[in-house]
Amino acid sequence: MAFATRQFVRAASSDAATAAAKKLLIKHVTIIGGGLMGAGIAQVAAASGHTVVLVDQSDEILKKSTKGIEESLKRVIKKKFADKPEAGAEFIKKTLKNLTTSTDAASVVHSTDLVIEAIVENLEVKNKLFQTLDKFAPEHTIFASNTSSLQITKMANATTRQDRFGGLHFFNPVPMMKLVEVIKTPMTSQKTFESLVDFSKAVGKSPVSCKDTPGFIVNRLLVPYMMEAVRLLERGDASKEDIDVAMKLGAGYPMGPFELLDYVGLDTSKYIIDGWHSLEPNNPLFAPSPLLNKLVEEKKLGKKTGEGFYKYK
Ligand code: NAI
Repeated sequence: MAFATRQFVRAASSDAATAAAKKLLIKHVTIIGGGLMGAGIAQVAAASGHTVVLVDQSDEILKKSTKGIEESLKRVIKKKFADKPEAGAEFIKKTLKNLTTSTDAASVVHSTDLVIEAIVENLEVKNKLFQTLDKFAPEHTIFASNTSSLQITKMANATTRQDRFGGLHFFNPVPMMKLVEVIKTPMTSQKTFESLVDFSKAVGKSPVSCKDTPGFIVNRLLVPYMMEAVRLLERGDASKEDIDVAMKLGAGYPMGPFELLDYVGLDTSKYIIDGWHSLEPNNPLFAPSPLLNKLVEEKKLGKKTGEGFYKYK
């Protein structure tokens, strides 16, 4: 009897351990920030069968985000369902059915499995948001930030769920770019990390993993390269057009550095370099640029505002 009881207790506790270690199957996702990145993430998550709530500060912004998603889906079906227009229309209908919007994050996170934050690149603003959502989201909910340059650890520390917090760094434009960097802080549990990897695969991306280090993999290499291009222009060594042509034809890059800066958003790039400069003021790779600062001051933020280094219609 004592033996049977011991066996039972052992079996029950090992079941509990297995359940605790089991990865979370993410079905319901809340995305905060319906801008360039948030709308793209919402699109791929909804298109892959997740139920998605997209949150932003006003209905007007959300209308713009939804319209952008609809336009992007139309482009997707032109390629994916070229000879099956009915299946394409059905795909758009299904995707949009999975997507709702809200202006009140706290009221929609009560049943979500994953919160992905894609708001302005400002640590204080992000921390305030996570602190609030931590109070309203269920225990099991994983929080992730799409930040390009801020420390995930600092955001995790603003909450009580450091083990259920990680980075999910998507790339622009989200529906086209296959990469996601999954960031593990020293506190992120293996279960959370694996759930985020699985989610990235479920939305059709190829995840890579990186520690919580400035710029992760891609931006740590790419941002100093783009800043060096701006410095080349500032010194008058070459025109932006020639620099772009040179890197496309000479290095085989699909976009030149100025086209890429306009695509990323000059404000986002400025935040990144300013943040790294404050961490390492003597690192010449992280030195701020007067020209970039001037364009941001003039609200010439790139493609999203119609003008950056180049003008767009
Ligand atoms: P964006 O400016 O296009 O969009 C940000 C959106 O967040 C705006 O619609 C704004 O209204 C909304 N927002 C701001 N504060 C909010 C709050 N408290 N609650 C709800 N919504 C709020 O910015 P973007 O480019 O989409 O960047 C978002 C995040 O993604 C940033 O952390 C950025 O570093 C990161 N990221 C950006 C990439 C890019 O290529 N632009 C690439 C990868 C990551």
